Amino acid sequence: MPEADHTQKEKQFYTDIQPKNEGFFLKGSNSYDWGMKNRLSNIFDPKSGKTVMLAFDHGYFQGPTTGLERIDVTILPLIEYADTLMLTRGILRTTIPATYNKGIVLRASGGPSILKELSNEQLAIDIDEAIRLNASAMAVQVFVGGEFESKSIHNMTRLIDMGNKASIPTLGVTAVGKELVRDAKYMRLATRMLAELGCTYVKTYFVEKDFDTVVAACPVPIVIAGGKKLPELDALDMAYRAIQAGALGVDMGRNIFQSEDPVAMIQAVRKVVHENENPRAAHDYYLTLKNENNR
Ligand code: R5P
Repeated sequence: MPEADHTQKEKQFYTDIQPKNEGFFLKGSNSYDWGMKNRLSNIFDPKSGKTVMLAFDHGYFQGPTTGLERIDVTILPLIEYADTLMLTRGILRTTIPATYNKGIVLRASGGPSILKELSNEQLAIDIDEAIRLNASAMAVQVFVGGEFESKSIHNMTRLIDMGNKASIPTLGVTAVGKELVRDAKYMRLATRMLAELGCTYVKTYFVEKDFDTVVAACPVPIVIAGGKKLPELDALDMAYRAIQAGALGVDMGRNIFQSEDPVAMIQAVRKVVHENENPRAAHDYYLTLKNENNR
């Protein structure tokens, strides 16, 4: 029991001040409950409304790819610059210090390796495990138009139902097989389907033409995947154009950890995403940091 209130100070109820009733900062996310919004605020920076997700979950189907041979050596120096990490539970438990207190997006689907048909995935984590690991979101691969389209959509909707019960957001990842054309028409279809079926936010590839229509037609936040390694200026240019078209962040892996200077590159990406820096200026910043790091 608390002690009786013996203070002589007069109670103050501030009857002249109306309580604030502000909407949540993130597109399409106002109707969630507190836990979901709190987790989303761990992924998207409430100040800029955007995110730099550092993706290094590639090993879940392709093993120790270039740049990820030793995550403890190459990725740990980068994590302080990311808003959130996209990774598997295996790497989280073995390699990421438990003192890390920003966002964690857990890879939640998997199965086949690069030796098999990649799209034949299943859910690869249980909701209790995601809660135990304090996940900010769970990510599921969806293959719209692929051989296992319905199965991957079903994986996603099951994950959304489990996630919503625990207030853990679901990131739907649009995965495009080699046979599919990556254009705005396809991306509008895939991202809209994922949003309508309940994803909290969606990851997709940037397309050169009409990417703003992909963003406009999707009622939840879109982040872009980095894709294969490009020259640093080109990667910064892609991120810039995606952000200007309305993307709310990047989920970037190889273009950061395969860069000549990953620590400099992730800081340059942050400039583009959070400060709307133009790609030339961000690239100059990258070169300056790179020179300093090499001294
Ligand atoms: C791919 O399936 C993984 O989920 C990666 O997280 C994703 O592709 C982003 O990494 P990158 O920027 O290297 O494409």
